[in-house]
Amino acid sequence: MRLVAWQPDDLLRRLDDVVSVYGEAMGYRKELLQTRRGYIGAHVRRAGFRAVATLTTDGRLAGFGYGYTSGSGQWWHDQVRSQLGEDDRQRWLTSCFEVVELHVRPAAQGHGVGARQLRALLAMADGETVLLSTPEADEQKSRAWRLYRRFGFADVLRHFHFPGDERAFAILGRDLPVVERPAEDAPGIVGI
Ligand SMILES: CC(C)(COP(=O)(O)OP(=O)(O)OC[C@H]1O[C@@H](n2cnc3c(N)ncnc32)[C@H](O)[C@@H]1OP(=O)(O)O)[C@@H](O)C(=O)NCCC(=O)NCCS
Repeated sequence: MRLVAWQPDDLLRRLDDVVSVYGEAMGYRKELLQTRRGYIGAHVRRAGFRAVATLTTDGRLAGFGYGYTSGSGQWWHDQVRSQLGEDDRQRWLTSCFEVVELHVRPAAQGHGVGARQLRALLAMADGETVLLSTPEADEQKSRAWRLYRRFGFADVLRHFHFPGDERAFAILGRDLPVVERPAEDAPGIVGI
C-alpha cells in the first residue's frame, strides 16, 4: 500500500470511492452518504485544503483523510466557536487546521494506515493548532480515540451536540507542528 498526497481534483475524481470508504468506515446508510457527497465537493475548494490517500498495489482506495483552514462562516467552526470561551477561541481557532475526515476501510484497519495518513496530513497542514471532532466512545476500546491520544490530542470540548445530530461528539486538539523526536523523548508519536 502506498500513501499519496491528493490535490482537490484527485479527490473529486475518486469521489465514489471516497464516499464508499467513508460509508464503510462509519457504518452510515446510503441516504446519508448522498448528502455527504455534496459537502465534500464544497470542502475541496476551501483555503488550506490538504488531502492524503492510501492506495493498494492494484490502485484501490484503502483510506483517505482531508482537512482545511478552519474559519468563520464554516458551519463546524461556528458551532465549535459558539461553545468556547474567549480564551479558548483565541487559543484554538485563531490559526487552526481542521481535520475534517480520516477513514480507513475496515478490511485495511489495524495496520498503521490511519496513523500514517494522520501524520502526513498534519505535516502538510497550515496553522498553529489542529482540531477535529469524533463521536464520544470508550477511549480504550475505540481505535480512533487510541489513535488521537497517541498523537497527543487533548480535550477541547466533550459531549458536544451538533444541531440535528443526536450523537455526542468530542472536540480534540493539539498544537502544530507535530515534531517527531527520538523515541525516548516522545514514545507516543514515534513508531505509530
Ligand atoms: C480511526 C481509523 C482512521 C484508524 O485507522 P487504522 O488504520 O485502523 O489505525 P492504525 O492501524 O494506524 O492504528 C490501529 C492499530 O494498529 C496498530 N498498528 C500500527 N502500525 C501497525 C503495523 N504496522 N502493523 C500492525 N499494527 C499496527 C496500532 O498500534 C493501532 O493499535 P490499536 O488500535 O490497538 O491502538 C480507522 O480505524 C477508521 O476509519 N475507523 C472508523 C472511522 C472513524 O472512526 N474515523 C475517525 C472518526 S473522526
